[in-house]
Amino acid sequence: MINDSNSDRLAREQFGRDFKWGVSTAAYQIEGAHDVDGKGLSIWDVFTSRKGKVKKGQHGNVACDFYNCFKGDIQLVQDLGIPNFRFSISWSRVLPTGTNTVNQKGIDYYNRIIDYCLESGIEPWVTLYHWDLPQELELKGGWTNREVVDWFSEYAALCVKSFGDRVTNWMVMNEPAVFTGAGYFFGIHAPGRTGMKNFLPAIHHATLSMAAGGKVVKQLAPQANVGTTFSCSYVEPATSGARDLAAAKRADALLNRLFLEPILGLGYPVDDLPVLKKLEKYMRSGDEERMSFDFDFIGIQNYTREIVTSSFFTPYIGARLVAAKKRKVPLTEMGWEVYPEAIYQMIKKFNSYSNIKKLIITENGAAFPDILKDGRVADEKRKKYIEENLRQVLRAQKEGFSVDGYFVWTLTDNFEWAEGYHPRFGLIYVDFETQQRVVKDSGLWYKALLQQ
Ligand code: BGC
Repeated sequence: MINDSNSDRLAREQFGRDFKWGVSTAAYQIEGAHDVDGKGLSIWDVFTSRKGKVKKGQHGNVACDFYNCFKGDIQLVQDLGIPNFRFSISWSRVLPTGTNTVNQKGIDYYNRIIDYCLESGIEPWVTLYHWDLPQELELKGGWTNREVVDWFSEYAALCVKSFGDRVTNWMVMNEPAVFTGAGYFFGIHAPGRTGMKNFLPAIHHATLSMAAGGKVVKQLAPQANVGTTFSCSYVEPATSGARDLAAAKRADALLNRLFLEPILGLGYPVDDLPVLKKLEKYMRSGDEERMSFDFDFIGIQNYTREIVTSSFFTPYIGARLVAAKKRKVPLTEMGWEVYPEAIYQMIKKFNSYSNIKKLIITENGAAFPDILKDGRVADEKRKKYIEENLRQVLRAQKEGFSVDGYFVWTLTDNFEWAEGYHPRFGLIYVDFETQQRVVKDSGLWYKALLQQ
């Protein structure tokens, strides 16, 4: 049992025997080795080399050097007693131009990781797409080109044929709403495209690819446990006024339902977000059917809640998020509100869809400023964040909502996309000069929880 400030105690067994405990990572954020052993460029390699795109001009060329340090890091996963390790495959490492020519050295590298996980008694959970599209495909339109569905299917098939004899757990995509929204509408993530003309086709082709990817994995590995992951935020209206209520509904459709509902066979949430009617331009006959797939599990990734107000001046959605900073609430280093109840609300919300078979929290965690002092990082805030979130998971379970696993974001401090290396999310501190690792107090706490 773990002692804490609350009188009730948190214990692993409370979550049930089959509950999956894990930790999540993503290739571009940790691997480095961006141009070695035949790897092709990805959109993140190119985006980070453009001026002013990432804070301080930082990039993932070296990152945590997981490419070379993976054994040590997987040993740390083992030392912490974490039974499940989620990582992603870099598409351009195994298919340097996105299609056709396979880079055997890339395949060998992921074989080494998978084998080392298994030798260490750790179950690998593989994400196929965590945002690093091969640059060659971006030059052909990337996610705006419908051919991406075929490119992605070919890539998915290669991964399953190469690793499916040892990998059971697959996640087809990571957070399509974020990579299409940030990368194709706002242009603040790779590939830096903007506007509806990019966003709308990217949405539709990502949806089709997610379903197609799920089908490919299942066809080639019928025993596989196939899922996909969605970002989600608990959305609340700023006031109880009718306009804010309607704005919150639209924001909820965009943030939480846009990609999930077509996958579940419900189509895009057009009624609650009318601008999505514009997607029809990209739809072909038979697409409604092509967009859905019966995943074995749905991964949800929650970090915070959003307060939404009606905004006449915000095009397409008529809604605006009220910045957490303005609300005088506790914040993480990302400027996100610390609001553990959000995860409980999300579990409840996703439980309301009758055809979700299993729900797993595939990411949850927080960035706070960390200080390494005398070989220790006393990250009380992160520990508390994870603990409070887990209490909310338990609360949902006790109320009868099903949730089958929890993965912390993330193992080591790493490259936080447009924010660079400043926000630290890891259970393990990284000195990026020396690549030295130090398990933070939150990591030790997670270990103690898992050891019970
Ligand atoms: C992403 C991660 C990211 C984390 C924290 C998620 O949106 O999947 O790649 O680092 O949130 O921002």
